[in-house]
Amino acid sequence: MELIHTVDWMKQVARQARSEGAIVGLVPTMGALHAGHLSLVRAARERSSSLVVSIFVNPKQFGPKEDFTRYPRTLDADRAALDPLGVHHIFAPPVEEMYPRGFSTGVEVAGLSERLEGRSRPGHFRGVTTVVLKLFEIVQPSFAFFGRKDAQQGRIIRQMAADLNLDTEIVVCPIVREPDGLALSSRNSYLQAPERAAATVLSRSLAAVRQRIERGERMVQPLVEEMRAVLAAEPLAAVDYAEIVDADTFEPATRLHGSCLAVMAVFIGSTRLIDNMLIEADGAKITCTI
Ligand code: PAF
Repeated sequence: MELIHTVDWMKQVARQARSEGAIVGLVPTMGALHAGHLSLVRAARERSSSLVVSIFVNPKQFGPKEDFTRYPRTLDADRAALDPLGVHHIFAPPVEEMYPRGFSTGVEVAGLSERLEGRSRPGHFRGVTTVVLKLFEIVQPSFAFFGRKDAQQGRIIRQMAADLNLDTEIVVCPIVREPDGLALSSRNSYLQAPERAAATVLSRSLAAVRQRIERGERMVQPLVEEMRAVLAAEPLAAVDYAEIVDADTFEPATRLHGSCLAVMAVFIGSTRLIDNMLIEADGAKITCTI
């Protein structure tokens, strides 16, 4: 497994792999890898013969008051975790390599990027799509793998890939959870013990929505009220948003139909966590995937 720090070297290595007929896969990450990331790597390894994992804490996707400087950087542990998984290259460029002096381009997916996460974190998705397009250009992967915990991010990247005719297929993989339901996130490491216990409220509120759906509820309003009531009962939780939206447009839904997402962002103390549940209606049958 080779550790690569420069754009030129990464491009050269990926070009060489493609010219030898390899199917190049990419798992973009910001490091501080956990079992959720490793599940993406395993899925990616199954579909690619040359696998790149990028580790780059992207300053452009953090707001001025967010946790860019505090974000965990654990390159040695990340390398150790990736080593047994058949990863060929880690691409870990310094900030100046990705954004040299004078860098002035941004990529924006209008509409989708302005809702929910985008409304709460202005500029966040522009930072994400800018860095992801750069990574795609550098590596030119056939497949790129993202987690469904960041459902809106996955949808936006898919839109960017379609709009710009990119040759990279976007693969979105399931959420990985702790045994008590908490979705894995690098930010979980910020939680103090009482907050860690409180953080299960996100998945508990999704489970409550699923239960109401299983009992036959199809209208969104009572489901959202249920989700918010569970969240409100947790004293350490402050809700940023909790909605049920169409999974394609991310506009609020009124009745369950097609694919919807119950999505939320919740502060547990000062740590902002997100989570979601996919709700798929097929005629009278509804499947909820937490
Ligand atoms: O999901 C993440 O970790 C980041 O948003 C990504 C896709 C690696 C871009 O920096």
